[in-house]
Amino acid sequence: MALKRSIRGQVPPFIVMDVMAEANRREVAGEDVLHLEVGQPSTGAPSGVIEVAQATLVSDKLGYTEALGIDPLRERIARYYGETHDIDLAADRVVVTTGSSGGFMLAFLSAFDTGDRVALADPGYPAYRNILSALGIEAVAIPTTIDDRYQPTPELLDRVVRETGAIDGLIVASPANPTGTMLAAAEMKALTGYCDANGIRLISDEIYHGITYEGAGETALSFTDNAFIVNSFSKYYSMTGWRVGWMVVPEDLHRSVECLAQNLFISVPALSQRAACAAFDCREELDANVLRYAANRELLLRELPKAGLDRLAPADGAFYIYAEVGHLTNDSEAFCRQILAETGVAMAPGTDFDRERGRATVRISFAGDTATMGEAARRLQAWLPGAG
Ligand SMILES: Cc1ncc(COP(=O)(O)O)c(C=O)c1O
Repeated sequence: MALKRSIRGQVPPFIVMDVMAEANRREVAGEDVLHLEVGQPSTGAPSGVIEVAQATLVSDKLGYTEALGIDPLRERIARYYGETHDIDLAADRVVVTTGSSGGFMLAFLSAFDTGDRVALADPGYPAYRNILSALGIEAVAIPTTIDDRYQPTPELLDRVVRETGAIDGLIVASPANPTGTMLAAAEMKALTGYCDANGIRLISDEIYHGITYEGAGETALSFTDNAFIVNSFSKYYSMTGWRVGWMVVPEDLHRSVECLAQNLFISVPALSQRAACAAFDCREELDANVLRYAANRELLLRELPKAGLDRLAPADGAFYIYAEVGHLTNDSEAFCRQILAETGVAMAPGTDFDRERGRATVRISFAGDTATMGEAARRLQAWLPGAG
């Protein structure tokens, strides 16, 4: 007899993970692979974090914590909003999460019911729509282009509502993955105003704050108290595997988030929480990483056009360059496979981020070291038509 399988559990794979697995397989077989596919810093956690982690390992502070997180970390995160955005935030509003990924689960579950509709930009980070669909929430695509800098606007939202019906939520990311584009203060203000006026719950993914090249990231918290502000220690703080992030939660959903967190996760790993308290005081080391990303970005923006990759999103922040390659291929997955096989350069096909139009785009991650970027550019210039 056939056993039951859920429909909502059938989410698509994260294709970049498949690319990474293939790149790793080639590396183990002795090939010289350059990793421009993965969206994670090549550096480890800052030394101040490691020191606290080592001391905590031999302490008696590694049991469950309160579901909302340990007080010193919540207080330190609240202080960060004062230091960085001049916002006086009560520590009580801060919830520590298992990476921002855990935060999305809590935000979506507390704000939306099955059948609700949540809008998000295409291209965008694939886990948003896959988590939404696993929870029975409809992900409503807002097709964006380079002309709107791949970000939603009130006008685009109006059009989506007119054409497809009312929406209950909106997810924005600034800087965004895969495009690196950002929302300026006026744009963030317009979006928060639109959401508040129309009863739309906003989720603002601010995980790439700190990694910016053309001005600092704006937080939605400067303009509204009704949004979920999602952030993480994974990117700027270089702590992907520690699985620790945070949210600033709207007051009306605070207790709901707490009860969900108690039941779903009990608590975030205690070691990571205690160590993360030190992360905010490691700015010198972390800003040196950002300087490296900036050098990588400059190198690639200069060298990729010489390989015929000249249709590039602005890359204002994060560590990605999103390139339109429609003049070279209409099958970005095959294109990336071929480039990996013939040059050893691993890149992510755009289909992860935009299922249809992503057939003509690729995402290049410059989170690695500068020598790797230089060598990748050289190999691409030698391989691609249009090499200069
Ligand atoms: C835009 C964006 N949000 C969230 C995440 C998830 O990060 P984490 O769960 O490690 O905080 C990622 C990871 O790549 C991302 O790119």
